[in-house]
Amino acid sequence: MTDHYPDKENGTKTRSSQPPRKKSPHVPFGDMRTAPWYGKDIISVRQFTSADLDYVFGVAHEMREMVERVGTFDLLKGKILASLFYEPSTRTSASFTAAMERLGGSVIPINEVTYSSVAKGESLPDTVRTLECYADVIVLRHKEVGSAAQAAKYAKKPVINAGDGTGEHPTQALLDLFTIREELEIFEGITVTMIGDLRYGRTVHSLARLLKLFNVRLNFVAPELLRLPLGIVQELAENGTPANYYEALSPELIARTDVLYVTRVQKERFENPEDYDKVKGSYVITPETLKQAKDKMIVMHPLPRVGEISMEVDDDPRAAYFRQMEYGLYVRMALLAMVLGKA
Ligand code: NCD
Repeated sequence: MTDHYPDKENGTKTRSSQPPRKKSPHVPFGDMRTAPWYGKDIISVRQFTSADLDYVFGVAHEMREMVERVGTFDLLKGKILASLFYEPSTRTSASFTAAMERLGGSVIPINEVTYSSVAKGESLPDTVRTLECYADVIVLRHKEVGSAAQAAKYAKKPVINAGDGTGEHPTQALLDLFTIREELEIFEGITVTMIGDLRYGRTVHSLARLLKLFNVRLNFVAPELLRLPLGIVQELAENGTPANYYEALSPELIARTDVLYVTRVQKERFENPEDYDKVKGSYVITPETLKQAKDKMIVMHPLPRVGEISMEVDDDPRAAYFRQMEYGLYVRMALLAMVLGKA
């Protein structure tokens, strides 16, 4: 995996052509140009400290209350999001669109790049430089690791990474962590067990990196072919995060688990279809699996699922994956408001 950092420190856009801005007492109310995330890119979870996470989740809480109270409000009225998806998406693209529209903004959707100039061979830098002429912020999903960092390098407006190949999916990890914090009363000292495709699953990569900021225990369950990339194993070890690696989800393991994070085997990432056939259906979570689990634990999944969790689990109150999607709306509203200087 390549490093995904944008070469501007912490994702901040340099505006070298402009003189340094003096703090003006005449900035209109609500125009928070000094807001900590104003104008920044969101490329990797590595940009976030635990204080930043408290900030994001505080704003996400406010968004949740406002949506529950008034549904839609005009915090981002007049702002435009360019939503550029080179890979399939249901939840991420729909929730970013809903987030923008619930805040009174609007969206240029480019979900089917075959109908855009990308099909004529336009490069990613040129496509983002085009879209930023029309939009205030760009959300990008792309098949290449490092694509979001590359886009951010060329764009002057904020770029938000909605998944770069097998690299990262930072907004998913933020909503995953928000879900854990909202659903479990305690967070300190919890055990998180991630199972499935830990090799290609970008949501796992981002969530593991975020969780290492906290006092948690991590278990990783995967067949040999789908193990967590060595780079992340090393990051966890260097950080001193307790992490154990297994091939099977034993009853003892499930009994110790507070968060079971299940993932899909990422068929589209396999070079050799025979390898996919070897590992597909490696694990299926059923009501039987959860018999040994704590009463107060949660089952999460970034979705889509393709059989890893049987539908009979859906009615179990511990099944949090549908609620998880709704938390995603609030987190994405928070992130958009933050990079556009409204929070
Ligand atoms: C995930 C992704 O795209 O990485 N989906 C999502 O954004 N919720 C997980 C997956 O596709 O398996």
